[in-house]
Amino acid sequence: MAENFTAFVIEDVGGKPKGGFTTLTLADLPDNDVLVEVACSTLNYKDGLAVSGKGRIARKLPMVAGIDLAGTVVESRSPAWKPGDKVVANGWGLSETQWGGYTRFQRLKAEWLTRLPDAFSFEEAMGIGTAGYTAALCVDALERWGAIRPGGKEVLVTGAAGGVGSIAVALLAKRGYPVVASTGRPETHDYLRGLGASDFIDRAALLEKGAPLQKERWAGGVDSVGGQTLVNALSQTAWGGAIAACGLAGSSDLPGTVLPHILRSVALLGVDSVMAPPDRRDAAWTRLARDLDRSALKTMYEVQPFDALPELATKILAGNIRGRVVVDVTR
Ligand SMILES: NC(=O)c1ccc[n+]([C@@H]2O[C@H](COP(=O)([O-])OP(=O)(O)OC[C@H]3O[C@@H](n4cnc5c(N)ncnc54)[C@H](OP(=O)(O)O)[C@@H]3O)[C@@H](O)[C@H]2O)c1
Repeated sequence: MAENFTAFVIEDVGGKPKGGFTTLTLADLPDNDVLVEVACSTLNYKDGLAVSGKGRIARKLPMVAGIDLAGTVVESRSPAWKPGDKVVANGWGLSETQWGGYTRFQRLKAEWLTRLPDAFSFEEAMGIGTAGYTAALCVDALERWGAIRPGGKEVLVTGAAGGVGSIAVALLAKRGYPVVASTGRPETHDYLRGLGASDFIDRAALLEKGAPLQKERWAGGVDSVGGQTLVNALSQTAWGGAIAACGLAGSSDLPGTVLPHILRSVALLGVDSVMAPPDRRDAAWTRLARDLDRSALKTMYEVQPFDALPELATKILAGNIRGRVVVDVTR
């Protein structure tokens, strides 16, 4: 095992968070039960803020950044894990209050780890990352609620060409739900059709303020946009349906009425991936392994070397990244 290794660490420099590559040893890592050799991490918008120092993501410093990781257990003081187990970790405050995934080694609590299904390589797992795992949590939430059924009314996915949206489209279509993708990028229609979308709605149409109760079109939906888009989705959902809401890409507001809820029993199902309990995580990863087409997944991400991280952070904040980025911390 390497004595010294590289990590991307945010430190306090003159009262401001500043990130850079640093050499760590195993003795520097937190005293958690499971030592993981990290293979890959990812780049999320939040990581871009942390790495560039443009956002105060870390709530204590120094902090190893990176909110996702995939790797192999090397040592474990927990009976839940043994050397050689392949794992992923998402959320749980990684990069905020707990040291994260931009490092060759990390020590983590046993309950933060999820077994990586055999179906996925580390690279694919991080191609899915928090966005894809959250999409799976959303589809789980809709099915648990009993809102949607294969061959039934249409299911709406907003922000469809984004990370959460595109994997939600693929997972829903694979289960036989007719999926309508809402996107502001018509050039992504072929891509989304390839993932299984059967129809499209311009995202501008969902941004207009509408009546509190509109034509009942959707059995349910996955919303990563929030604001008026979410309100319209709820207003257009049929009796007994549900919208799983996980994001605020458009807005954190909820400028609607109670009418869809009290007159149509429409449910707003909130989805948080960060503190989701282990059984929900296992269910989400099992769904991804079963329903996500491997060749479609390959089209959704690119792999970049560790040392490109600062440049990639600047790009994601400027909106210049297409699809998802896997960060290979071994090169
Ligand atoms: N709850 C959780 O645990 C959790 C986990 C992961 C992510 N999230 C949140 O989920 C959201 C989506 O994440 P992501 O990784 O999928 O992001 P992303 O890849 O940037 O995708 C977001 C998509 O939303 C649409 N969009 C962006 N700005 C918009 C606007 N002003 N009005 C309407 N639509 C807009 C775009 O879709 P089109 O290009 O198709 O129009 C964009 O591709 C974010 O808010 C993120 O913070 C939450």
